[in-house]
Amino acid sequence: MSKASKAININDLRTLAKRRLPRMVFDYIDGGSEDELTLGRSVARYADYEWQWNSLVNISALDTSTTVFGQKNPLPFFISPTAASRLFHPKEGEFAVARAAQKAGIAYSASTLASQTLEDIAATAPDVPKIIQIYVWKDRGIVKEFMARAKACGFVGCVLTVDTAVAGFRERDPRNGFSVPPKINAKTATQALAKPGYLMDMLFSSKIGPANFASQAGGGDVMGTINNLFDRTMTWKDAEWMANEWGGPFAVKGIATAADARRAVDHGAAAVWISNHGGRQIDTSVPVIDLLPEIRAAVDAKTEVIADGGVRRGSHALKLIARGATSVAIGRAYLYGLAAGGEAGVARAIQILKEDVERGLALLGVPRLADLDDTLLRKSA
Ligand code: FNR
Ligand code: LAC
Repeated sequence: MSKASKAININDLRTLAKRRLPRMVFDYIDGGSEDELTLGRSVARYADYEWQWNSLVNISALDTSTTVFGQKNPLPFFISPTAASRLFHPKEGEFAVARAAQKAGIAYSASTLASQTLEDIAATAPDVPKIIQIYVWKDRGIVKEFMARAKACGFVGCVLTVDTAVAGFRERDPRNGFSVPPKINAKTATQALAKPGYLMDMLFSSKIGPANFASQAGGGDVMGTINNLFDRTMTWKDAEWMANEWGGPFAVKGIATAADARRAVDHGAAAVWISNHGGRQIDTSVPVIDLLPEIRAAVDAKTEVIADGGVRRGSHALKLIARGATSVAIGRAYLYGLAAGGEAGVARAIQILKEDVERGLALLGVPRLADLDDTLLRKSA
C-alpha cells in the first residue's frame, strides 16, 4: 500500500505532497494571494459554525447524493477545475484525477489550463460526468473551438470563471522562481535537486504546459498567461454569448454578490458557483459560507448553487450544504492527494471525505443529505 493510501486525513496528504514536490510547485498549490488571509480564513471560518444534532434517528440507510450540472452525484462534492495537473504528477496529471473521480462516480472538471488534452482526458475517463472550465482568450474563435471540442468528446457542463480578470498576487511564486514548466536555474536548482524523485519524473515526461492550446500559450508562468492572453473586456453580454454557444448546463464561477448571482441566471446560467478561487485572487474576501444564504435566496429553487473554498473535511462540505449549497467543489484536497500518490492519492482524498460525510450525516441524525439545512448550525459569537 502506498503512503498516500494510508493517510488518515487531508492534512496527511498535504504533508506527503510537501515531501514529494519542489518548494515552488508545492507553494503553487498551497499558497494564496497577498497576506493569504482569505486562504487561512476559508478553512478557519468553518469552525465558527457549530453543530446541533437530532437524536435517535434511524440512520441505517444514508443518501449522500446531490445534483451537479444536472447529473446525479453520489456525494456532496466533486472535482474543481485546477490548472496543469501534470505539475503535481508529471506522468499522469489530469488522467489520474479523472480516473479517480470516475471510480467514485463524482463529476470531474477540466481547466482551460489543463496539461492533458480534453480528448485524451475523455478517452481515459469516458464514464465520469465532465465539466469544462473556461478562461476567455482574446480571440473568441479559440474559445468557440475549445467549447466545440469539449462537446464533441462528451463534456456535459461548462463553467466560466469570472474572478480572474487578472491574476491575483501570489507572492510565493515570484519568490520561489515558479514557472510552467518549472525551470531549473540558479534560483530554483536547490529546490529541484532536493526532490530527485519529482525531478526524474519531470525530466522523463513530455513538457508540461497548457496542452489544449499548445500553439497559443506563450509559456512562462500561469499568471503571465492569464494577464497576457485572456480577455479583459469581458462583460455579462459575453457570458450570455458563451451560455448560448454551449447550449447545455452552464455555470458562472467566482460569484460573490446576490446581484451577480441574479445576473448570471438572467444571462443563461443554470448554476451559480460561489468561490473566491481558494484565496488565490482578491485577498480579504468574505468567506463563502457567510455568503451562501443571501445568494441562495437571490436565485430560484431550480438554480444549482455550487460553493467551494477551504474544504479539508467532509464536515466542511456538509456545512456549505446546510447553508444552502446544492454541491461543493474541492481543489487542494485532491491536489495534495495527486502530488502524494497519483491516482491512488486522489482516490484516498475522495475516500477520506466520503467517510467524513457519511459519519457526519449519521452523527447529525440526518440520513438524507437533501434534508440538511441550517437549523442544525449555529454561528458562534
Ligand atoms: C485553482 N483554481 C482554478 N479555478 C479555475 O476556475 N480555473 C483554474 O485553472 C484554476 N486553477 C487552480 C490551480 C490551483 C493549484 C488551485 C489550488 C486552484 C481554483 C479552484 O477551482 C477552486 O476554486 C479552489 O481551489 C477551491 O479552494 P480549495 O478547495 O483549494 O481550498
Ligand atoms: C490559478 C489559476 C490558474 O488559480 O486559476 O492558479
